[in-house]
Amino acid sequence: MQIAIINGPNLNLLGKRETDIYGHEDFDTFFAQLKSKYDQVDLSYYQSNAEGEIVSKIQELGFEVDGIIINPAAYSHTSIAIRDAISSIKAPVMEVHISNVYAREAFRNHSHVSAVAVGVISGLGLKGYTLALDYFCHQ
Ligand code: DQA
Repeated sequence: MQIAIINGPNLNLLGKRETDIYGHEDFDTFFAQLKSKYDQVDLSYYQSNAEGEIVSKIQELGFEVDGIIINPAAYSHTSIAIRDAISSIKAPVMEVHISNVYAREAFRNHSHVSAVAVGVISGLGLKGYTLALDYFCHQ
């Protein structure tokens, strides 16, 4: 099974960025652990700070992989292009947020992506990615 993780802007700074909200662990370390725990899964990881690059990656992977776990970060709240890319592909997409976006500023309470995702995991820290992967493994 092929699963891709796509992270949006500023998530390359995990471990350094607003650690009270996003924690102290960097994503590369977390991803290495996830990959070894789920070694039966062909798991890939892509991060970009650019909206168009994320759209292109969704288009590229969306007809190849069995599932996509996406944290569009700030683009969740602004990007109709990312939403449209998700609606255009075959692979099911799970939306993950590290923080609880419903318990934060009002502008984070709405995501354009949620309506086209199979589900949303928000507020469970990096564990959200593990739970999303578990979901795809048991489908
Ligand atoms: C985030 C929440 C977004 O509102 C924010 O812009 C992010 C990260 C999260 O994982 O909690 O960059 O997607």
